Amino acid sequence: MRETRLDLDDFVLPLFVGPEPLANSELAGMARHSVETLGAEADELVRLGVKAVILFGIPDEKDEEGSGAWDDDGIVQRALRELQGRDLVLITDVCLCEYTSHGHCGIVGDGEEIDNDATLELLSRTARSHVEAGAHVVAPSDMMDGRVGAIREDLPDTPIIAYSAKYASAFYGPFREAAESAPAFGDRRGYQMDPANVREALRECEQDVAEGADVLMIKPALPYLDVIRAARERFDLPLAAYNVSGEYAMVKAAAAKGFLDERQAALESLTAIKRAGADFVVSYWTKELASWL
Ligand code: PBG
Repeated sequence: MRETRLDLDDFVLPLFVGPEPLANSELAGMARHSVETLGAEADELVRLGVKAVILFGIPDEKDEEGSGAWDDDGIVQRALRELQGRDLVLITDVCLCEYTSHGHCGIVGDGEEIDNDATLELLSRTARSHVEAGAHVVAPSDMMDGRVGAIREDLPDTPIIAYSAKYASAFYGPFREAAESAPAFGDRRGYQMDPANVREALRECEQDVAEGADVLMIKPALPYLDVIRAARERFDLPLAAYNVSGEYAMVKAAAAKGFLDERQAALESLTAIKRAGADFVVSYWTKELASWL
């Protein structure tokens, strides 16, 4: 009678790679790998049955433009070369915020405004450099208008997962700590979406479809189940949802205090996200799921 099932094939694990490895306990569950430790981790994931990862890089140095993002010898590019030859789909997050000294997802223009259009060329440069280093799929998360089209023009054959409706959310806290990407001034409300809007999310999806996206993604997941459902009903493309760091850390923290059972709470959350209409889910529980399912 069960209508919704969890299958490891439908999950993507985020992997952070930086200059030094850091343990889970230091980063609210978001362990960080170095290029050197990544290979062994990937082997273990393949052995457990994990099918796909999404890579985030923390560079050694940051600058105004985020030039580490498209450096051929950059952290994600080196990680991609390290990961080649395994039965693992390699997705990369395309954004500048981990690479810019100010922590914004685009370059800063006059009066501390983000310069949307000047950022597009840097994003497509980044995506191209990921693909040249071995990425199978690129996932732009910056929320600049027109970035899917700019990347599509450069990379006609690369699958693009568009973070179509990415909300300016309080639930990215642990990620920003792990990725060292908190903005140095202001916030991301100029380019990320207002949590109050669902019709606008559908317009964002529509634009990404028109620009050549292969997959639409909604993020975060649990506070936005209605948005997932609305996008599922309106569009035919595969739909993804990102169960973000704060959603994960809340359950971890509550479980650590004995307030709830982590496994049950995680399985219930992920089932709800799929029931709402997501075809696949980006989740920090993906590795644990391998033993739970
Ligand atoms: C980069 C990016 C963020 C996340 C994914 N890509 C952070 C942000 O927009 O501030 C958040 C993921 C998470 O919290 O798990 N722009």
